[in-house]
Amino acid sequence: MITKEITKEGKLPLICITTPASKAVISLYGAHVLSWVPEGHEDVLFVSPLSRYKTGEPIRGGIPVCWPWFGKEKLPQHGVARTSLWTLEVAEERQDGTVRVVMSLMPDGFNGLSAKMEIIVGETLTQILTTTAGTEPVVVPQALHTYFNVNVQEATVEGLKDVEFSERAAVPVAQQEAPVLAFKGGLDRIYSGVEGEIGIVDPSLKQKIKLDRQGSESVVVWNPWRQGAKGMKDLPDNGWQFFLCVETANLDCYAPELGPGDSVSMGHIISVERL
Ligand code: BG6
Repeated sequence: MITKEITKEGKLPLICITTPASKAVISLYGAHVLSWVPEGHEDVLFVSPLSRYKTGEPIRGGIPVCWPWFGKEKLPQHGVARTSLWTLEVAEERQDGTVRVVMSLMPDGFNGLSAKMEIIVGETLTQILTTTAGTEPVVVPQALHTYFNVNVQEATVEGLKDVEFSERAAVPVAQQEAPVLAFKGGLDRIYSGVEGEIGIVDPSLKQKIKLDRQGSESVVVWNPWRQGAKGMKDLPDNGWQFFLCVETANLDCYAPELGPGDSVSMGHIISVERL
């Protein structure tokens, strides 16, 4: 079932999806997945209770789309996609019980550069972000900035052992690195050349979230911890405890370089299993 709603707070258009295997909510503002609840599980995504659903401001949580740049290399931080209203192209129930939604964006001032976001909701949550260059060559760093609903103080991340990373924090905090990544403080890293599946294990919720990336070479891992959260108006002081961002990305030397008219896709399949 597919229904369309408007959030009370900021009048943002939402698509609410119910399938036999899961429920999801997608905002056309940002092509942003706000919720994905597989049958028998809690929401796999975290959204801040203080998030502002307001045009011009990014939503705090869910899956923001960082495009066509990442970080502060230009302003606004993480690009214009997450604060743009996307056009709904397709919302269809399919014979296999899944729902497919496609949204598109061609922002002004980028020589015809465009993005398409395809989302499939069912037993898994699939997202594919396709970038097509306009009339000019362009480099497009990008990330699906997923806020996973976990107890970050107990969570561990599998699949990043021995992978090279760069620290983005001015004063990085030492973490437990092996045999799995565990969190002893705030973390802001870009892992590069990441192969294979990433597992996010949460003993509190007794589940493992699996992130199967396609066409993605980079993974960003971020949590602001206690100190970082204090400076964030749209996150409660204790909000950092309840999420971990693990982002499917192509950044730095892996940012796609496109000639005029060229296209490239990047995405992921998210699934969850009981421990
Ligand atoms: C992460 C970055 O992806 O996003 C962090 O690595 C950044 O450096 C974080 O602080 C949140 O960004 P924002 O713009 O949503 O507050």
